[in-house]
Amino acid sequence: MPSEQSPLFYPDLALSKNAYVSSSAEYQQMYKKSIENPEEFWGEIARQFHWETPIDSDKFFRYNFDLTKGPIFNKWLDGATTNISYNLLDRNIRNGHGDKIAYYWEGNHPDDYSRLTYKKLLEEVCRFANVLKSLGVNKGDRVAIYMPMILEAVITLLACTRIGAVHSLVFAGFSSDSFAERITDCEARIIVTADGVWRGEKLLQLKSICDQAMAKCAQEGHNVQHCIVVSHLERVTSPSGSQRHSNRTPMTEGRDIWWQDVVPQASTSCYPEWMQAEDPLFMLYTSGSTGKPKGVLHTTAGYLLYAATTFKYVFDYKLNDVYWCTADIGWITGHSYVVYGPLANAATSVLFEGTPFYPDNDRFWAVIDKYKVTQFYTAPTAIRALMKFGEQIVKKHDLSTLKVMGSVGEPINPEAWLWYYKVVGHEKASIVDTFWQTETGGHVLTTLPGALPMKPGAAGFPFFGVQPVLLDENGKEIKGEGEGYLVFSRPWPGLMRTLYGSHDRYEVTYFSKFPGYYCTGDGARRDADGYLWVTGRVDDMLNVSGHLMSTAEIESVLTEHEHVSEAAVVAKPHPVKGECLYCFITLSEQGTYNEALLKELKTHVRERIGPFAQPDVIQNAPALPKTRSGKIMRRILRKVAVNDREVGDISTLAETGVVEQLFAMRPPNA
Ligand code: PRX
Repeated sequence: MPSEQSPLFYPDLALSKNAYVSSSAEYQQMYKKSIENPEEFWGEIARQFHWETPIDSDKFFRYNFDLTKGPIFNKWLDGATTNISYNLLDRNIRNGHGDKIAYYWEGNHPDDYSRLTYKKLLEEVCRFANVLKSLGVNKGDRVAIYMPMILEAVITLLACTRIGAVHSLVFAGFSSDSFAERITDCEARIIVTADGVWRGEKLLQLKSICDQAMAKCAQEGHNVQHCIVVSHLERVTSPSGSQRHSNRTPMTEGRDIWWQDVVPQASTSCYPEWMQAEDPLFMLYTSGSTGKPKGVLHTTAGYLLYAATTFKYVFDYKLNDVYWCTADIGWITGHSYVVYGPLANAATSVLFEGTPFYPDNDRFWAVIDKYKVTQFYTAPTAIRALMKFGEQIVKKHDLSTLKVMGSVGEPINPEAWLWYYKVVGHEKASIVDTFWQTETGGHVLTTLPGALPMKPGAAGFPFFGVQPVLLDENGKEIKGEGEGYLVFSRPWPGLMRTLYGSHDRYEVTYFSKFPGYYCTGDGARRDADGYLWVTGRVDDMLNVSGHLMSTAEIESVLTEHEHVSEAAVVAKPHPVKGECLYCFITLSEQGTYNEALLKELKTHVRERIGPFAQPDVIQNAPALPKTRSGKIMRRILRKVAVNDREVGDISTLAETGVVEQLFAMRPPNA
């Protein structure tokens, strides 16, 4: 457990002096205004953007968080109209940033790199928007995207926003089954992908995964009309040497279209579709505790304001800075902090296709050095993986340009925090541990760089407009020091509006446990200095390398195997991944617990969900610990997973002998 006694780390003086918010007092003052007068606070920010229909101050912000009073809703700037791509591109170009680099693209292989200015990005976005229009994509239609970290991914997102289409990106590490489920759920008729991508020395055949997904969709009665494919492999260097990888991707006549065959001919101008403030911008699936993914829906104006403002203050981004977020575009971090937040601030970003370990384990440090990166944003799991290689490999590179370094996805352990701070940041760069969720749209807790002292392992304080509350099991507010459920008592502009096609599930999942509050599903502790420490999920969710998944999702995949009659999955702490999957399976009569079965099950999970969900341990469990009413007691399974015999009270178990049996049957290497 992180120590609350850990010393405070004060921001570097030079950073504080030039920061947008340079002291605790200034943060307090701005925070107070954001809570007491949200119209004025967000109104000043909104005025920096373009509104085709002006903001109506009477309808600035309205919400209901209390299910007992009626349906849950949350609306910002209702009645105003705008277009996101216009604000991110045309507006910046008008402000003189047309020749500024929007992205440095760095390929998997260090020989592959390119760059794109704001002006050129706008042209490419317009071209692709025109292509989408010519294929019949209209305002409100969903476009499913399965892409690697290439410039066309950003172009695709912005092209959708240009014409008011709703993008639904699926991380290109999900299996074809997972992708198919998400395509059918949002009824996308158009898919955008690439033929493939190298990740380190591994080739991922993205188009063939899309082919399988489209075939599965067809079986479900949903036909994808077009699949647009970027020809990518041909233009990059393969790991085996400089020779180009020849492209043999099969294309289905009439359905599949090469990007390069249609985009270059399209017009570079496309008039933006003016969207209502509350029109959908994008949806993004996140795991739900029932196992069925939830299509989190974000809308136009509020998301823009929030992504832009958190990016500006949390990374303290200044016009000549070079910012790099390593997150994949398929996750919310990629949406808010690779695309929308940076572009809204006319930022220059690095877009990185590769892995931290290729061609060597110093790739992150080499890229920071190459582009003189000033803000770097990554995940604790990556930091822990890189710590293993020692300090020398970091010190080979000049990282002195770093001012702010972010962490996201899971609590960061103090050991990793200190290594990041000392070895990477030279005790000079501020660390921002950013707590947030797909649902929150942007950062909700952190310590602003230059303003607030840091505590290793603590997320810190609320961002502007955010009001965190800790509740006990009975819904009673915990004031001062204490630990409880982390909830929010009012919305901020970036909070999701609904779950696509399922407002009931939205209300039940997030607003039914504690009426009047948005419930994060995380626990947190407030220390004597007011710092919030996120303690992890309080529901049946697992966080493996920053990837959130539900126990129910993995369990249902395991029980699909004919030899598994029952399964229960818990999280076990893991030194690099944070948590890993420890699965218990009860075999059917014909089943035998052996290597072959374990291999089959692991492969099955990889195929059904994705490689990141592969279990670390699968234990044979002739019986599971259940209460008399049949509920599995996961608390006991978590103890078995870590071989801790302090199981506590087991008197409610139907069969107490089960516990001893499970300890006795732990696999030797578990
Ligand atoms: O449990 C929290 C954890 O990740 C969850 C959100 O996952 P997802 O929607 O996939 O978004 C990840 C990127 C924003 C949260 O409910 N989490 C995320 N960031 C932190 C964190 N836990 C502790 N500290 C963080 N900084």
